[in-house]
Amino acid sequence: MAFGRGKVILLGEHGVVYGHPALAAGLGVGVHARAVASDVDVIEARPWGVFARVDDDDEPLAKGYAAILEGYPSTRPRLRVEVDVELPGGAGLGCSAALGVAVTGAIDEALGIERSATERGEYSLRWERVFHGNPSGVDNAMAAAGGIALFRKGHPLEPVRARRPLPLVIAHSGESSSTKEVVAMVARQHEKEPARVGEVFEGIASLVRNARLAVEAGDLAALGQLMDMNHALLSALMLSTEQLEALCRAAREAGALGAKLTGAGAGGCMIALAASRAQAEAIRARLATLSPLTLVAEAGGLDEDVMLADAEGRREEGKPE
Ligand code: PMV
Repeated sequence: MAFGRGKVILLGEHGVVYGHPALAAGLGVGVHARAVASDVDVIEARPWGVFARVDDDDEPLAKGYAAILEGYPSTRPRLRVEVDVELPGGAGLGCSAALGVAVTGAIDEALGIERSATERGEYSLRWERVFHGNPSGVDNAMAAAGGIALFRKGHPLEPVRARRPLPLVIAHSGESSSTKEVVAMVARQHEKEPARVGEVFEGIASLVRNARLAVEAGDLAALGQLMDMNHALLSALMLSTEQLEALCRAAREAGALGAKLTGAGAGGCMIALAASRAQAEAIRARLATLSPLTLVAEAGGLDEDVMLADAEGRREEGKPE
């Protein structure tokens, strides 16, 4: 069974598409996949009721699968790949990258191909490009590697050692968002006002660099403030929504050290940083009154990269756009 992790971007989304750094954490939930010999190449995603041949033009998952298969020798056996998805799509949690990494891993396992996590993350960008057009690669790198890391396009992933684990609360706004469309919307702003948007990206990049130091020093209060500032800069790019604002406000009122949207924005999820696991549970209970899906995660813990509690309902959520 192969696994691709979900991820949260702690700071740095969007700037990362333009070569700036982002700080991200892999999740303990994601996508499991396995591939078995078959008479045709077919992809099956039971929670979504998908059973599609690789030449099915109407099924996006089949297009992703076809893009992945193209890189393997044509002499390989035909494969049926089955995926089990634990993440909502269109939520900013990297569902589509987790799918790409899990499917690549499953085919590699079936064909006896060895690849490092970095290589798998990079290879699976073939899948991501079907869904996202111009991905920075952060989701794929994290889906394959996990942990907490600093990502910069075209550079090796830099693992970041957290002095203290980061108790995080993740809450879904209930609004789905298309990363492809949101990234295109930011690109239009960048084209129209390169100086202003460039300054926003520079600002975000400096927050990311400071956030890395805060994670390494175990200074959660500083990290929370940097997350709040990052959220404000993302709002300046019109990426927040009333619902994301309500969730961030409620999290701060419930004692969060910081809160921000995560992923593409314009819907999807937000994250809040708590001082302790117990406080994270209390914040989660508050956010659960406003959100259809809440999770508690602990990034950078000793046993696991991220441990997740209660992700009820995630299987019923949508596919990647
Ligand atoms: O919405 P997600 O989980 O796909 O995250 C997207 C992150 C962006 O920086 C907005 C896009 C990218 O390719 O890095």
